[in-house]
Amino acid sequence: MKIVHAASELFPYMKTGGLADAVGALTGTFAQLGHEVSVFLPGYRGALAHPLAAKAERKFRLKVEMGDQYLSGDVYSFSPSKNLTVFLIVRDEFYDRKYPYGNGERDYEDNSDRFIFFCKAVVETMRLADLGADIVHAHDWQTALLPLLLREAERRFGVTLGMKTVFTIHNIAFQGLFSAACYPRTNLPDELFSMDGLEYYGQVNFMKAGILFADRVTTVSPRYAKEIQTPEFGCGLEGVVQTRIDDLSGLINGVDSAVWNPASDKLIPARYTASDLAGKRACKAELLKVCGFDPAFQGPIFGMICRLTEQKGIDLVLANADFFTGKMCRFVILGAGEKRMEDALKKIALSYPDKVFVCPKHDETMSHLIESGSDFFVMPSLFEPCGLNQMYSQVYGTVPIVSRVGGLFDTVRDADEDPVNGTGVMCAPNALELRGALERALRLYDDKARYGAVQQRGMARDFSWKTAALAYETLYRDAL
Ligand code: ADP
Ligand code: GLC
Repeated sequence: MKIVHAASELFPYMKTGGLADAVGALTGTFAQLGHEVSVFLPGYRGALAHPLAAKAERKFRLKVEMGDQYLSGDVYSFSPSKNLTVFLIVRDEFYDRKYPYGNGERDYEDNSDRFIFFCKAVVETMRLADLGADIVHAHDWQTALLPLLLREAERRFGVTLGMKTVFTIHNIAFQGLFSAACYPRTNLPDELFSMDGLEYYGQVNFMKAGILFADRVTTVSPRYAKEIQTPEFGCGLEGVVQTRIDDLSGLINGVDSAVWNPASDKLIPARYTASDLAGKRACKAELLKVCGFDPAFQGPIFGMICRLTEQKGIDLVLANADFFTGKMCRFVILGAGEKRMEDALKKIALSYPDKVFVCPKHDETMSHLIESGSDFFVMPSLFEPCGLNQMYSQVYGTVPIVSRVGGLFDTVRDADEDPVNGTGVMCAPNALELRGALERALRLYDDKARYGAVQQRGMARDFSWKTAALAYETLYRDAL
């Protein structure tokens, strides 16, 4: 098949979270399976400077209609591996920035223009490059206009293309909601700015367009596919999701074993396997050292890696700060995001430097050290469409402590409830339940035989992307 993907993040060129990992691994796996894959990414500063993009060449000059203006852009492309072409949409005014969506506290003011332009540039490049796609797959709100803009282009040019469109919701909490003033920039017909179109309480909602107009809608776990049909998790779009129930599926992400595999991971101090955990002990020793903790400490390390945002349950962790500072354990968190959370965490680390370590930045190497060197991984998300770290943790022999939501519910089993198959500790997403789970984790750690069995079961799990890619392939064929 000829498959086109478009996303605002793509590992290793631009990453703020799991979207990058998911799109990077999915497209790479499709290429390995023999499909002809094209991936579109905005030409961010970091992406253009990436060593793999060094061979990128300018292929096309674009003129993109934005309301009553035409804006120019360039398309660079390169092929990082067989069957895979990366297209970078370059327009410095929009993308020559360090961060993809905003700097720290606030989103960029021109985000609507930036991503309308991007989607239109993808449509135009597909035409110029004569990509002849069978499937066009868009991810999250930033590319959610793409399925509709493709159909609109067909209408304008009086052609009917055989391709089908797929839209994946990685997180329905971010919808791309903008003032109605941006609507004319889409050049879409006025009648689509309505309840049955992009209009949402007087504003423009990009994600709504993806949900309504793609041929198929997917999200990243079966549980989340159910949750987003409810007011509790649907973030106001539950009604819209319900209209697509027949075309909606939940396909779980995988683990990219080229990046996340303790047996071959070059970013960790020592490699290891389930049958020989000596390397994991070396990773733990290094983690204790990096955090400035007592190197002779024998108790468990609780690790956490996430964007600092409400979704990830940081407030539940803060409410349990006395657990981490009072019990025989250590806590390390790697995360960048909301300042309030960062400040609160730093305050604890400042008072208890021998027990709590905070690393307030994005750091790929440190994330691998925490996954490998910790004994438990803490992930008490309030909602979690899929979640990747709970899967990485199982593969790295780091027992996950997770809330029973979304993809966490689908990929972890509680070891107390299911002593035969359990691979983690689960709780409801509130501070009190998290406390109970943390206490249970301590008891589990004290029972070396039981801890070892839970750890081994996690390491034996198969979260390969191939399984995920085959599920998408079936969906594509079905759509076609
Ligand atoms: P989300 O996409 O909601 O952020 P996921 O669990 O799907 O959550 O994916 C998060 C990804 O981002 C993982 O690969 C995780 O290791 C990585 N990550 C999150 N925060 C950081 C950070 N501060 N430094 C390095 N990697 C991070
Ligand atoms: C989103 C979700 C996360 C998911 C990731 C990749 O960022 O928050 O749960 O794993 O997308 O699909």
